[in-house]
Amino acid sequence: MAAVMRIILAVSFAGFCLLAGGALAERQPRHMLDRPKLVHNALDAPVYPVCSVGGRQAACLRSEACTSQGGRFTGFCAGDPTLVCCVVEKTCDDETSAHSVTFRNPSFPLENLRPRLCPLMIKVGRDICSMRVDMNVFELEPATKSGCIFDMFVILGTVEGPTASLCGNMTGFATTFAVKELSDVTLSLVAQAMEG
Ligand SMILES: *[C@@H]1O[C@H](CO)[C@@H](O)[C@H](O)[C@H]1NC(C)=O
Repeated sequence: MAAVMRIILAVSFAGFCLLAGGALAERQPRHMLDRPKLVHNALDAPVYPVCSVGGRQAACLRSEACTSQGGRFTGFCAGDPTLVCCVVEKTCDDETSAHSVTFRNPSFPLENLRPRLCPLMIKVGRDICSMRVDMNVFELEPATKSGCIFDMFVILGTVEGPTASLCGNMTGFATTFAVKELSDVTLSLVAQAMEG
C-alpha cells in the first residue's frame, strides 16, 4: 500500500489581538474542534473582509496587495468595487506572507503517492497574534497504536511550542492557535511510503 496524502487547508489570520488584547488567545491557545466547520464569529473574525471561491475562503484585498502576495484575482468583492477576491494558492516548499492562503498537496485534488516532505513557511505580519487553519480536505494515513508514524502534519513556531502531530481523516476540523507577530510559522506535512 502506498502513502496517501490529499490535503487542502485554508490558512488565515484571526483578529484576536485587535479585539481581545490576546486574552482569548491565552484562554484557548489551541483547540482541535469544530466538526463541521464553524463560520467566523465576532471574536474570531479575520482582520480583512473575506470572500468565497468554490466554497473556499479568500481575502478581499486591493488588487496591488493581491498581486504582491502572489494571489490570483477571481472577481470583485461584494459591496466594494475597490477590493478583489484574492486567492493565494501554495504548495510544498513555498513561503508566503499572505493573509489568507490555500495550502495543498502538489497533485491535489489527486493523492500524492510518493514519499515526501512538504513544508509551507508563513511569515506572520505585524499586529497578528493568532492563526486559523481550516482543514477543508485532510486525508492522511491513520494513526497506529504508536501515533502518526506514516503520515503526519505538524505546525511549528506557535507560541505554545510544538504541536501534536495530526494524521488520519480530519476533513472538516479547524484549529486556532496563538502566534507571535513578525515570526515564522511552518506548516509541515510528511508523507511516507508504506510497506505492503
Ligand atoms: C474523510 O471524511 C470526510 C468527512 O467525514 C468524508 O466525506 C470523506 O469521504 C473521508 N475520506 C476518506 C478517504 O475516508
